[in-house]
Amino acid sequence: MRIPTKKLKNGFELPVYGLGLWQMGGRFEEDRTNDEADIKAIKYAIEQGVTYIDTAEAYGDGHAEELLGEVLKNVDRSKLVISTKVSGNNQGYDGVLDACEKSLKRMGTDYIDLFMLHRFPDPEFSIKETMRAMDELVESGKVRHIGVSNCAPKRFESAQKHSKNKLVYNQLHYNVEYREVEKYGLEKHAVDNDYFLCAWRPLQKDLLDTSAPILDEMANKYGKTKYQIAINWLISQPNVITLSKTSTPVHLDENLGALDWDMSEEDIERIRQEFPNQKYASDAVPLDYEAASLL
Ligand SMILES: NC(=O)c1ccc[n+]([C@@H]2O[C@H](COP(=O)([O-])OP(=O)(O)OC[C@H]3O[C@@H](n4cnc5c(N)ncnc54)[C@H](OP(=O)(O)O)[C@@H]3O)[C@@H](O)[C@H]2O)c1
Repeated sequence: MRIPTKKLKNGFELPVYGLGLWQMGGRFEEDRTNDEADIKAIKYAIEQGVTYIDTAEAYGDGHAEELLGEVLKNVDRSKLVISTKVSGNNQGYDGVLDACEKSLKRMGTDYIDLFMLHRFPDPEFSIKETMRAMDELVESGKVRHIGVSNCAPKRFESAQKHSKNKLVYNQLHYNVEYREVEKYGLEKHAVDNDYFLCAWRPLQKDLLDTSAPILDEMANKYGKTKYQIAINWLISQPNVITLSKTSTPVHLDENLGALDWDMSEEDIERIRQEFPNQKYASDAVPLDYEAASLL
C-alpha cells in the first residue's frame, strides 16, 4: 500500500507510520539469534509499502543498524527515509560526529535522512557543542534533517536555540494510555513550532488495555481492530506520526490497516477523555529524566 504522508509547513514530509527496529538485533547488547527473521521482517515491511525506518546506535549496540544495512544492499535506498539516533552519553561535538560516521558505516549508506539526539545530552556534554556538530553534519550532506527525542518543550527549545537548522522532529512515548506528552502540551507545541511529534510505543509493546470499553465501541463503529483504533487515534492528530516494531507479518498487515482513514475529531476527544487508567509519566523514559538545571 501507499502509506499516507504528512508535510510540515517548511516542506519536510514523512509517512504517518514507520517501522521501528528497537529489539531487532538485541536490546542494549548485540544479539544475533533472530538476525534471519529480523532481516526478513524489515524486507517484508518494505515490500508492503513501508518507507520510513527508525533505528538507533543504541539498539542492539549498533546491530539493528547493521541488520538494516543488510537489507539496504538489495533495495532502492533513495526510496526510504531512515532515522537514527545518537545516544545521550555519546554527545558533544566529537561524540556526535563520531556516532554519525559509525552509523553510516553500519548501515552502508552515505547519508541519514533524519539524525536525532536520542535524549538531551548527559550532563558532561554541552548542548551547544552537540548542536554545532549536528549543524556541521547537515552542511556536509551526511545528514538531511535533524531532530530530537524525549525532549519536553524547554529542552526542545534549548536544542533549537543552539542550532542553525530547524528541528523537524521530536520522538516521544505516546499512546492511548501513556499521556505524558499531553501533560507537557507537546502535541500543541509540535503544531506551534511546525515539527513532527513521532509517537513511540503506540501499542505499549502489545500491552495496551484492550478491555477498555471505548476501544470496543470505536472498533465496532469503524469496523477496525482495537490496535488499529489505537494507532489511528495517534495519526489522526495534527503533526503526529508513529512507529511500531513488528517482526510478525500479520501484525504489520494489521497496523497498515490503521492508516488510510480518519477518525472524527469528536471520537479523538472521546478516547482522550475516556480511555481508563491513563498514565502521565512514561514507564520507560519519563520526560523529567534529569534536572531542569541541565538547560
Ligand atoms: N526514542 C525512544 O526513546 C524510543 C523508545 C522506545 C521505542 N522507540 C521507537 O519506537 C518504535 C516502536 O516502539 P516499541 O517497539 O517500543 O513499541 P510498540 O511498537 O508499541 O510494540 C512493539 C511490540 O508489539 C508487538 N506488536 C506490533 N504490532 C502488533 C499487533 N498488531 N498486534 C500485536 N502485537 C503487535 C510487537 O511484536 P511482534 O514483533 O511479534 O509483532 C512488539 O513486541 C521502536 O521500535 C523504536 O524505533 C523509541
